[in-house]
Order: sequence, then structure tokens, then C-alpha cells
Amino acid sequence: MNSQYSVKFPRKVFSGKGSMEEIKGIIKDLDASAVCLMTDAGVYGCGLANTPEKYIEEAGAEMVLVNDVPREPSVYDVKELYAKLKDKNVQLIVAVGGGSVIDMAKMMSVAMTNNKLADDIRAEGAITNPSLPMIAIPTTSGTGAEATANAIFLFPEEDLKVGIVNEYMIPDYVILDADNTVGLPPALTASTGVDALCHAVESYISVLSNPFCEMFSLKAVELICRSIEKAFNDGNDMQAREDMQLGSFYAGLCLTTSSTVAVHALSYPLGGKYHIPHGVSNAVLLPFVMDVNMECCREQYTVLAPYMMPDINKYPKEQWPEMVVDYLYTLMKKLDIPDKLTGFGVEPEDLDYLTDNVVKVERLLLKNPKKLTKEEIKNIYKKLL
Ligand SMILES: NC(=O)c1ccc[n+]([C@@H]2O[C@H](COP(=O)([O-])OP(=O)(O)OC[C@H]3O[C@@H](n4cnc5c(N)ncnc54)[C@H](O)[C@@H]3O)[C@@H](O)[C@H]2O)c1
Ligand SMILES: [Fe+2]
Repeated sequence: MNSQYSVKFPRKVFSGKGSMEEIKGIIKDLDASAVCLMTDAGVYGCGLANTPEKYIEEAGAEMVLVNDVPREPSVYDVKELYAKLKDKNVQLIVAVGGGSVIDMAKMMSVAMTNNKLADDIRAEGAITNPSLPMIAIPTTSGTGAEATANAIFLFPEEDLKVGIVNEYMIPDYVILDADNTVGLPPALTASTGVDALCHAVESYISVLSNPFCEMFSLKAVELICRSIEKAFNDGNDMQAREDMQLGSFYAGLCLTTSSTVAVHALSYPLGGKYHIPHGVSNAVLLPFVMDVNMECCREQYTVLAPYMMPDINKYPKEQWPEMVVDYLYTLMKKLDIPDKLTGFGVEPEDLDYLTDNVVKVERLLLKNPKKLTKEEIKNIYKKLL
């Protein structure tokens, strides 16, 4: 475990019922006269933007509404939205949605102050000016994008999803109100929730793991594992929704000081070429990658085990690493996560293509505790056919 690390945080976090009202105070503190309310069609259709809309109005600011951020956006979507927003003199962005909306808002917050589009922002050192202030209000409990410095976009020419990382993209304000997640349908509750579990587990086993990460990842694993099935089976279970929201936020914090590893690396080409949603591809991969990593992570899996299975103490400790992997295979079944990629159009002849593309995600593969050979990567995909 590394003793040398850095941690980055959002500036202010508000949590709990009624915390949405903080929007008004933030607008007043910033003296913002034009506020962009950013969301997507699904979230807007559920009425989750109504409350922020009301508070923006009550604060007396002009509202610039963007209610059509595409799911899993591409660099072209970034360019299109930037062209629409660049002359609007926006002084604050309020993002209400899942990772797609929050990532787009993060990218706009730096694009507008740096006059750069996603293509340039991808280049090392391209962002020199601080971002526009931003409030992130997550409506999925998954990506942890409200806490992280990452924004992920599809680069269609390369058939690849790419994570762009810049500290200025950490949202200034976060509002965690679990009421915003109550209407999330079961399948999305499951896949986005497992994405959060991946963040917690991967950051813990990453070569960048550190004591700060350990504290938040273990707590995140505990919160998510005790509540994900409950939230999946009964979306109105508020305790479970609160656990999931806090767990995914904590797991996001881990990513600012550690990193995801091979699960996310193998997931990127699946999102890039087959457009499998981020949470789904991670969830399909998680047990299989954990299985392969086990030989290098027995100690870490032994620490993780009681946070996943509170009654595991009755079994001998030597068995705990295998039990962690079994637990994950079983959890995916209970959450109706597919164990095959064939349903998404992945064919046996795609194996080389997929493997070659994973190797490009070196940023994450290098952080994996086990150095994976091309053959091992290919074998993981093969098991999913
Ligand atoms: N920035 C990061 O740190 C980070 C980390 C992981 C993933 N991501 C990215 O985030 C995106 C995925 O985000 P996501 O998994 O949160 O899903 P999402 O934002 O793509 O949303 C998925 C769907 O759920 C709907 N939805 C969201 N909240 C809802 C609610 N409360 N009720 C009903 N419907 C709701 C949306 O309308 C959308 O159709 C991907 O592009 C992924 O690459 C970013
Ligand atoms: Fe993720």
C-alpha cells in the first residue's frame, strides 16, 4: 500500500432531504445571473429537473436549459453542445443526471473557460484555466462522476471510450439527495450500482491504492453490498437508496486518489464498438477479472471479504479469496446481469480486435495488480462468448 498519494475533493458536499435548496444559496453566493441547467431526456421526463428549475428561478437567475444530453455521449456531442452554449455567458452549471450528464457538464465547464473542445482537451496540458463553477446532482448511484476528475466520451473514429482526466473537472458542489434515485428502474439500479462496486473494489486492489482509498473503498463496498439487491428488488427502499448513493460517492472519491484497473480497461472497447452501457459492461466483466486477478490479490480479497459477506467469519480465512469471487458471480446472477457478450453482438472473430484495443487502455492496465498478457485478456473475453 502506497504511503505517498494525493487526494482531491469537491469543494462542498450537501447531503440529505431538502439539500436541493442549497442551489439558491450557491447562485446567490456566486452572484450568477445565467445558470445552465443540464440534464437528459429521461431524467427530465421523470420531473427530476423541476426542483432545480424552481430554485434557479427563485434565485432570480436566467436559466439556460439543456435537457437532451445523449446517453454515453461522444466527442461530437461535446462539440455540438459547446457551439450552442459558448455565447450564453453561463456562470454556473447545474447538472442533474447520471454520469452521462455530469461528464458532459464537466467537459462544458472547462471547454467554456479554455475555449477548447474535447479533441484538444484530450491532449496533455491543454487546460490551463479553472473551470466554470458546477453543481453535480447525481440521479444514478453508479459512476461517482460527482466526485471525480474524469469525464468519459466516445471517440467514434477509434471505436473507443476515452477517459479524460483533469483536476479542474472535479465538481465544486455536490448535492446528494437519494430521493433523486428512487425512480431509477431495476436494471439501471443493478448495472450502475455494480459500476460503483467496481470503482470501490478496483481502486482498492490497484497498485495506486493507499490508506485514504482503503478507508473509503471498504466502506463503499460495505454500503453497496448490503443494499444493492434491496434497491434492485424494491426501488422505494430509502435506506438502500441512501446506502447506494453514499457508496457510489465514496467509491468516486477513491478514484481521485487511486484508479480503476482491468475491469474498466476491458470494458472500454465494449462501450466503444458495441455501445454496451458502461455499467453493464463492467458488471459483466467484474467476476471474471477478479477471478484472474486472484493469484495476485489474495491478501486484498481477504480484507474485502467481510465487507461483502458480514457472516463470513465462520469459514476458514484461507477460503475467503475464492468466496469473494463466488460471491460476485452469484451477485451478478441475482441482479440479472448477463454472463455472455453474445447478446450484444460480440462474435468469436472479434476477440483479436477487442484484445488489441484493450492494450491501448494502458493508463488503467498498468495499475492492475497482475500484469495481464494479451492471451489472458483474450481468454477473459472468450469466457464471455
Ligand atoms: N466521470 C466518471 O468518473 C465516470 C465514471 C464511470 C462512468 N462514467 C460515464 O458515465 C456514463 C454512464 O453514466 P450512468 O451509468 O450514471 O448512466 P447515464 O447517465 O448514462 O443514465 C442512464 C439512463 O438512466 C436514466 N436515468 C438516470 N437517472 C434516472 C432516474 N433517477 N430515474 C430514471 N431514469 C434515470 C437516464 O435518462 C439514462 O437514460 C458513461 O458515459 C460512462 O462512461 C463516468
Ligand atoms: Fe465506471
